[in-house]
Amino acid sequence: MEVEVDTPVSERPSQTWTPQSWRSFDARQQPNYGSAAQVDQVTRELSGYPPLVFAAEARELRRQLAQVAEGKAFLLQGGDCAESFADFNANRIRDTFKVLLQMAVVLTFAGNLPVVKVARMAGQYAKPRSADTETIGGVELPSYRGDIINGIDFTAEARVPDPQRMLTAYNQSAATLNLLRAFAQGGLADLHQVHGWNLSFLENNPQREKYAQLAERLQEALEFMAVCGVTSANTPAIRETVLYTSHEALLLDYEQALTRTDSLSGNWYDCSAHMLWIGERTRQLDGAHVEFLSGVCNPIGVKVGPNMQADELLRLIDKLNPHNEAGRLTLITRMGADTLGEKLPALVQAVQREGRSVVWSADPMHGNTVKASSGYKTRDFDKILREIRDFFAVHRAEGSHPGGIHLEMTGEHVTECTGGAWKISEADLASCYRTQCDPRLNADQVLELAFCVAEWLRDDRSA
Ligand code: PEP
Ligand code: CO
Repeated sequence: MEVEVDTPVSERPSQTWTPQSWRSFDARQQPNYGSAAQVDQVTRELSGYPPLVFAAEARELRRQLAQVAEGKAFLLQGGDCAESFADFNANRIRDTFKVLLQMAVVLTFAGNLPVVKVARMAGQYAKPRSADTETIGGVELPSYRGDIINGIDFTAEARVPDPQRMLTAYNQSAATLNLLRAFAQGGLADLHQVHGWNLSFLENNPQREKYAQLAERLQEALEFMAVCGVTSANTPAIRETVLYTSHEALLLDYEQALTRTDSLSGNWYDCSAHMLWIGERTRQLDGAHVEFLSGVCNPIGVKVGPNMQADELLRLIDKLNPHNEAGRLTLITRMGADTLGEKLPALVQAVQREGRSVVWSADPMHGNTVKASSGYKTRDFDKILREIRDFFAVHRAEGSHPGGIHLEMTGEHVTECTGGAWKISEADLASCYRTQCDPRLNADQVLELAFCVAEWLRDDRSA
């Protein structure tokens, strides 16, 4: 086929990889389904369903991430720790969409470079757990593993893994994606509107002076463009946006069922989302998750925790991106604010020395989780910010690009992370603690964070 000519080398299927080749590797964090026949029936059904995303969209995201790898764009990835079947409604999707866009506008303007927006939505339903069981009041039950696997209620019945949940996850992902696409194209993403939301965020913010200057400059820029005749009515780029989807590729039965060959290129794509990532607990070089994602042509991510060694990282890069293609691989560091400054430089140096092209993205959430005295899992705003600040500092020192941020966040006004301009305290956590899994930044906290990161991005660009 003609297409072969401009298809990158690694997009040619490898000799041994198939969508099910992961099955001969060690697959961690998979549920113990009682009945293999039921799993088989569900995955067979899923295999016949339409793909959720189109391979060409995943290729376009990969192209944009190649720009990020070269420092010509910035990646903003965020959303729930775990989406929930029960909380599935339009307002929740709209609010997270809105706040992602608000952040993107601030970052684009300050950093003076395009922002690639990737939601942790429309498929983020499977959770790795540090223990197989959970004990409350002397009762021990299997851990909750995300709504695609079992129920969150602490009852024996809810915690039984149910393969039928894969079908619900597919349907809810499809409906979420449908609404996200409508929001992105249908007027909600208009730049003027988004900037208006930011102004009202600032108006009520206790620290508004700190951010007012940036907002004023953005306001002036929009007014200037309007005077020049560049408006939403005549410029689609002002009126519309593109938001990609992503989730952790954890439940391999599900991911395999959504993996299809692209009719244009003949290559394999996991069509459950545009971008997939491998979690910190399943990134073993000889494990099933690395095997599976090594063979699909989507842009992929891998979490990089504080124990990652430079040689291990290089071997992982070689396995996941053997032809060293920009945009294929995003390294999502999640080391903790107290550790990143010490551990990240050696990894960046190794990657630079070996000439590997990656996107470096900062997940400042997963290394900073603590248990409050009240028992709630929480994360402190200042620590989250500090991990991002240090991430920028390390990359500046090493001459690499701080490519993006990866956040657990929501557009709702939850009280799950402490701190921020509204000074949420540990005592406040109980008032609106709603996460299915890890604590998320709320709408105010995440916007405040965007204004701070915007300044570092601007400094970085001018340095
Ligand atoms: C997550 O992103 O929700 C997660 C579980 O992260 P990690 O694999 O980095 O612990
Ligand atoms: Co999480």
